[in-house]
Amino acid sequence: MDTQWTHTTVLLQESIAAVLTDPNGTYIDATYGRGGHSRLLLSGLSPTGRLIAFDRDAQAVANAQALVATDPRFSIRHAAFSAMDAAQSGMPLGSIAGILMDLGISSPQVDDAVRGFSFMRDGPLDMRMDTRTGESVAQWLSKASEATIAQVIHDYGEERHAKAIAAAIVTARTKKIPLTRTLELANLVASTIHGRQAGQHPATRTFQAFRIFINDELGELERALAATPQLLRSQGRLAVISFHSLEDRRVKQFIASHSKEVYDPRSPQSLMRSGDLQLKFKDLGRTKPSAAEIKANPRSRSAVLRVAERTAFGVSAT
Ligand SMILES: C[S@@+](CC[C@H](N)C(=O)[O-])C[C@H]1O[C@@H](n2cnc3c(N)ncnc32)[C@H](O)[C@@H]1O
Repeated sequence: MDTQWTHTTVLLQESIAAVLTDPNGTYIDATYGRGGHSRLLLSGLSPTGRLIAFDRDAQAVANAQALVATDPRFSIRHAAFSAMDAAQSGMPLGSIAGILMDLGISSPQVDDAVRGFSFMRDGPLDMRMDTRTGESVAQWLSKASEATIAQVIHDYGEERHAKAIAAAIVTARTKKIPLTRTLELANLVASTIHGRQAGQHPATRTFQAFRIFINDELGELERALAATPQLLRSQGRLAVISFHSLEDRRVKQFIASHSKEVYDPRSPQSLMRSGDLQLKFKDLGRTKPSAAEIKANPRSRSAVLRVAERTAFGVSAT
């Protein structure tokens, strides 16, 4: 069953070294996957340390049950990571020592054709990480407008042939040519745009776009990032591994915007008067996989790890 699908963890040592600062702390692994990061993090925790993991994929959660059974410090939640927001998770504000997010999909999700993520293996055109909710790519494509399909391919795939691909999809639909299998879509895209960019299947960008859209990956990321300043305690660390520029740009901008003084030029004294706590990060920079890691695991080649540290609570004057 699950044992045939493995995931090689990306930036493993670097990300755990960055996030784990207190062996007695409580940590969040927002993207359990197959638990590579979780296991190394647990190995650095004392008996009083805690790790709470999230994954919205049922197979990832099933895989985590073995760890739940053997390690009382570990728990798993079958939920989208935006649910780490304190109001939904019930975690006390300022209680978390570190949050790790390893974005995107796991190798088992791509390699198992039944999940519908792969343009190389035939399977149902699904691509949902959480198959309990939402609609599959096939369901969405059966009714979305041509303009919307083109926009999704353009915005989330950064595909310059977006309009032509969307037109081909809608033409196939009106001719009742089925688009319910991954290879049907992959072949349609390949025959529409011909040729391939160096080393890339012609359907790569379209599949990436539909995956990001159907799973609301960027909305999830933004909601989860927004929850982190309240969850992290003073000097708690946020470490995010992203795999494409759409994600990395959001992470970079989020950290940058929270690394600045909160200051309203129209009301310079507003902070002083608000009495609010000032929530800020210190940017600890970014790391990329080494040449050796990329050689051993080509899927790591586009990874970027960004790390930020929650500063001490700002002074709130009365
Ligand atoms: C790159 S893999 C993580 C691999 C993991 N770090 C490991 O070492 O095995 C990403 C995982 O995050 C999950 N995931 C992606 N977006 C999610 C979200 N918004 N909420 C919860 N889980 C998510 C996916 O289902 C997948 O299992």
